[in-house]
Amino acid sequence: MKLFLVFLVGLFALVLSNDGKKQYKVANKEFLEKQKRIMQLFKHINQPSHDKEHIEIAKTWSFGEKTDHYTKPEAVKQFIQYWKYGFIPKGEIFSVFHHEHLEQAIALFKIFYYAKDFETFYKTAVWARQNVNEGIFLYSFSVAIVHRPDTYGIILPPIYEVYPHYFYNSETIHTAYYYKQTHRDQHTDQEHGDKAYTIDANYSGHYLNLHPEQSMSYFIEDVGINAFYYYYNLYYPFWMCGKTYGIEKDNRGEIFYYVYQQIVARYYLERLSNDWGETPFINWDVPIETPYYPSLEYPNGLEFPTRPAYAKLHEYFYNYGQRWTTKGPYGYSHSFIHDYERRINDAIDKGHVHDHDGKKIDLTTYEGFNVLGNIIEGNHDSPNKKYYGTIQTFARHLLGYSYQPLDKYHTVPSALEHFETSMRDPAFYQFFKKIVMKFQRYQQYVPPYTEKDLVFPGVKITKVEVDRLVTYQDYFYSDLSNAVYDSDHELEHDTFHIRARQERLNHKPFTYKVTVKSDKDAKASIKIFLGPKYDEYGRYINISENRLNMVELDHFVYDIKSGENIITRHSQETNVYGPDRTSYTDLWKQINEAHKGQKEFHIDGKQSYFYFPQRYMLPKGSPEGKTYQIYVIVYPYEQYKGKDQEIGEYYYPKVGTGAIHVDGYPLGYPFDRFIKFEKLWKQIPNSYFYEAKIYHKHSDEINSSHH
Ligand SMILES: *[C@@H]1O[C@H](CO)[C@@H](O)[C@H](O)[C@H]1NC(C)=O
Ligand SMILES: *[C@@H]1O[C@H](CO)[C@@H](O)[C@H](O)[C@H]1NC(C)=O
Ligand SMILES: *[C@@H]1O[C@H](CO)[C@@H](O)[C@H](O)[C@H]1NC(C)=O
Repeated sequence: MKLFLVFLVGLFALVLSNDGKKQYKVANKEFLEKQKRIMQLFKHINQPSHDKEHIEIAKTWSFGEKTDHYTKPEAVKQFIQYWKYGFIPKGEIFSVFHHEHLEQAIALFKIFYYAKDFETFYKTAVWARQNVNEGIFLYSFSVAIVHRPDTYGIILPPIYEVYPHYFYNSETIHTAYYYKQTHRDQHTDQEHGDKAYTIDANYSGHYLNLHPEQSMSYFIEDVGINAFYYYYNLYYPFWMCGKTYGIEKDNRGEIFYYVYQQIVARYYLERLSNDWGETPFINWDVPIETPYYPSLEYPNGLEFPTRPAYAKLHEYFYNYGQRWTTKGPYGYSHSFIHDYERRINDAIDKGHVHDHDGKKIDLTTYEGFNVLGNIIEGNHDSPNKKYYGTIQTFARHLLGYSYQPLDKYHTVPSALEHFETSMRDPAFYQFFKKIVMKFQRYQQYVPPYTEKDLVFPGVKITKVEVDRLVTYQDYFYSDLSNAVYDSDHELEHDTFHIRARQERLNHKPFTYKVTVKSDKDAKASIKIFLGPKYDEYGRYINISENRLNMVELDHFVYDIKSGENIITRHSQETNVYGPDRTSYTDLWKQINEAHKGQKEFHIDGKQSYFYFPQRYMLPKGSPEGKTYQIYVIVYPYEQYKGKDQEIGEYYYPKVGTGAIHVDGYPLGYPFDRFIKFEKLWKQIPNSYFYEAKIYHKHSDEINSSHH
């Protein structure tokens, strides 16, 4: 009997198709029209739009008089109240982790969300684009697009092109200003034909030598990795009510756990590649060793706050000489964190919590793990947010070492207080490792899987073969035009373009083959993980310890036939990772060509939604080959209980349908629980450990080598 096979779930992922064919939908006129109109609103977000249609709509659209255009007229009334009595002005810095900013962002989101039809939504957005604070507009508008049913499938332009200030170091941004102001070094861009400037963007370690961990800045400052995190948080905003907005079925609390567990594990793999060991663990009462110098500047010129080495996070030192009493809760971050942690630990050890009304909720049940996730995230579905709070809000403030604001309009949030920049600070991984460990505190009360739980009777993996794994760095181009201010003429005719060229990690595509012998036909789930084998000293890491370092490479459903099955998968078929996003310029071109009927536009789910960048599917190898291991398991398929539909019409999981869960097992299965006997694990016939070396090559060697 499966003891506690309860919160059965499996993540990041979806089933495209078993035969691995790419599936897509051809965009129709209506979709193209929507996509175009939405994209235009993302251009030069730090300047008012110069589009004639936008100006006209913004002038005439008075939604206060059109409350019947919204399914929830109260939402309009509420927004108008904020608008009248103190909305954050344009030009100020917005942070979703500042509660007053968040309230306003939610108020705006609601009028977007409750707009009755696309026309109303669009007009409301145009009005907001011209009138509302840029950061709030961008955030609320984007959340609305991914949650409104009539904009499902719409592709958001890459956030690093919309908001380059949050993704590129200030030297890069200043070089862009220089080119913009001097119009020098102009040359013709061969690839695109139009005029362009190209800036070589560097990671922060190239200029300042602050901390040896900067050797990993190519990873933590990667635009794709940071964009992934931003998008994930658009789909599952911590403030969103699961019931009201229909995301309950996805088990967001469990998704929260798994996303962070995977991020922390993936970061550890990259640390090992760079000969770093364990991710440090945060103790709030001991100075934190890792400093952070973001090298980022806000569009208004203020710098992102810096954290010195050995920063003391205690309140006294941190707020030295400051009065906090009337400035909101953030000055008390240190005590809030202590209170919430204590309460959460107690709840885990007791195995239950009480909700707002004192009703007891068992944590050891099917739903319990998800509830725990909601509590720890401090999201809207937490049964008692007042009591268990939101550790992360305060932790981000404290670790970010941000300054005391003058008032709610003049905040200078730290990198950790924006989804766009959180993953750039090494403290992010240290903090979330601590969060992941909270869930392990819970797991220690759950019995480990037994042989009976793990074995798939009659099914055996006889062989695993994997191509040679090779990583390298190549150039990535991204549009920086939105980092500079255009003149009216330039805006109107879209004449000034500038771009960044930056080295990013990549790997050669590879295929792997899994040979499965079965004595019957069966529907199976197949999961592939990549994990370390040795630590930074070359010591073998046993599986009991290593289970939290296993990173999911792929997860799919497969119909196994009686006899021998050779399952061949290509690295790019993975439904856990996604390709680079199409740049704004290319997307715009494709949409226009389709609009004119010249070419079909294929809506590719991998361009929407949140996927970890395919480029980072493998950690950086070494010239002589760095040893990792691949783990494969084949287990009986079970459908996820809350599932409405397999997949949305655009072949990626529609948020709220449960489609994010490939099967009904826990996300992270089978590494979710403690492992007592390593020997047992090595003997499970339907699983396989395969030692794999990852090589790193210079990009020049890639095309010339035979491998
Ligand atoms: C990046 O580094 C290279 C080599 O040191 C340098 O030539 C280039 O100007 C740097 N880029 C920026 C934007 O500072
Ligand atoms: C594996 O590592 C854990 C943690 O260090 C240890 O408690 C356990 O005894 C080890 N197991 C084996 C089989 O070496
Ligand atoms: C290798 O070849 C491919 C295909 O011809 C090309 O796109 C890529 O830029 C080349 N890579 C390098 C590093 O030269």
